Amino acid sequence: MSVQTVSTTSFAGQEPGTSGLRKRVEVFQQARYLENFVQSIFDSLDSLEGKTLVLGGDGRFHNRAAIQIILRMAAANGCDRIMIGQNGILSTPAVSCLIRKYQAYGGIVLSASHNPGGPDGDFGIKFNISNGGPAPEKITQAIYERTLSITAYRISDAPPVDISRPGTTRMENMEIVVIDPVSDYAEMMRAIFDFDAIRRLFAGGFRMRLDAMNAVCGPYATRIIESELGAPVGTVVHEVPLEDFGGHHPDPNPVNAHELVAYMKTPAAPDFAAATDGDADRNMILGQGIVLTPSDSLAILAAHATRIPGYAGGLAGVARSMPTSTAVDRVAAEMNIPCFETPTGWKFFGNLMDAGKITLCGEESYGTSSAHIREKDGLWAILFWLNLIAVTGKSVNALASQHWAHYGRNYYSRHDYEQVREDKANALMRALREKLSALPGKRYATRAVTLADDFCYLDPVDHSASENQGVRILFSDGARIVFRLSGTGTVGATLRIYYECFEPDTRKHDDDPQIALASLIATAQEIADIAGYTGMSAPTVIT
Ligand code: G1P
Ligand code: ZN
Repeated sequence: MSVQTVSTTSFAGQEPGTSGLRKRVEVFQQARYLENFVQSIFDSLDSLEGKTLVLGGDGRFHNRAAIQIILRMAAANGCDRIMIGQNGILSTPAVSCLIRKYQAYGGIVLSASHNPGGPDGDFGIKFNISNGGPAPEKITQAIYERTLSITAYRISDAPPVDISRPGTTRMENMEIVVIDPVSDYAEMMRAIFDFDAIRRLFAGGFRMRLDAMNAVCGPYATRIIESELGAPVGTVVHEVPLEDFGGHHPDPNPVNAHELVAYMKTPAAPDFAAATDGDADRNMILGQGIVLTPSDSLAILAAHATRIPGYAGGLAGVARSMPTSTAVDRVAAEMNIPCFETPTGWKFFGNLMDAGKITLCGEESYGTSSAHIREKDGLWAILFWLNLIAVTGKSVNALASQHWAHYGRNYYSRHDYEQVREDKANALMRALREKLSALPGKRYATRAVTLADDFCYLDPVDHSASENQGVRILFSDGARIVFRLSGTGTVGATLRIYYECFEPDTRKHDDDPQIALASLIATAQEIADIAGYTGMSAPTVIT
């Protein structure tokens, strides 16, 4: 075994997006592509000597090959110890949990989250820091800059390591510890939730379906929900992680999980259902006949948090990404706790949690979590709902109606326009930005614009500013339209438009959101000429 220094030249475009570097598998399969990025991560950090790293991924195609390369590079770069999930499997929340529990220096997550997998799908890599959360922008920027000037990488010529069984081996001076991917995470869940109450719920005949979409949540959900909490075998479906996710698009939204949505409308529907994404950090919550919006889910969890053992002491504060609906703001106001509005992307919540300013947070994109880790956590959200149903004896539907009756309903929907030509998408955003200063005071249908800007976030902890985080147009009645371009797509540009309006009247709480939002959708078209720029008369995905 020896360490080699291999000459390389830089690749264009290795810039991490909203959540790490994501590209088509064939891009990652190019010689030196992954190596350059991994060396750039290591070069952007302090020396790895004496340090522990955590490594794992969602099991998608290229995971195993990438893991062997990263092990050899970590060993060559002087890393002391690396903890790796058996068979290279670790959910994103489990990586965060392990980094914190074992006080690791950081972790590498191999996932493209909810993007499709397989040889023709996407692959991704993300670095998490010692608080267990995604690297902040100053680190991702340093990594990107390093990729532009890199001339060599270090790698051991050691043979492949068997990661199929727990145990310890060595490579160069590095210890490789293969661990059971589930047990530390399960222990953490046991400490937060009332497992006895959930066990009684299942023992009483409560029925649930959890669709793991042949992605990484399967092993976690079967162990915790079936083996430990006593749900019948078969409660978790699509529970085996597959390299191509069985052809599923592992993004838990009503479009991709349409089978589950349809099943929840049949007479055979169980009491409760949920779905998770590729790396198990996202969740979708369903009741009989309904899909809850993530924004409502966050607000309801916040409103009831003190009924959960892990949050019995109350919430320090809450946070949501800017495009997420303001439903949780109403809960925070009533609880008299702060509510922070951050840019899209989980990395912005980390500082608030580290500073003890927030306990719960979430995004409209099916992400919810708390300060137990520094990532969003799909199974945590599902267990939270189970615990809530167990202690209140109420269904998802009943809890949602009760919430809207008390706080009013924030109708919400996101419209995505995928694979738009990049120049057209940029032109739309540019034209919109140029219009902003003229919008306040203008009337559209029954509403007047009160504020129109490009969201800029001033981090209250480290005082850094993040500019151009999405165009928002606010109206006098609390309605909002937000426009931004996706930072995670891999083909062309994806334009996301987020719509929200507030309805205090209980008699109007059962409308179809698309109908409740129709006048706002027409206003967006009028202001931004979406059809003109995109050439599309309708969005490709509505959630
Ligand atoms: C999307 C979501 C965002 C989430 C991110 C990573 O990013 O919109 O909320 O944090 O995936 O899961 P986007 O493609 O919009 O940049
Ligand atoms: Zn994910």
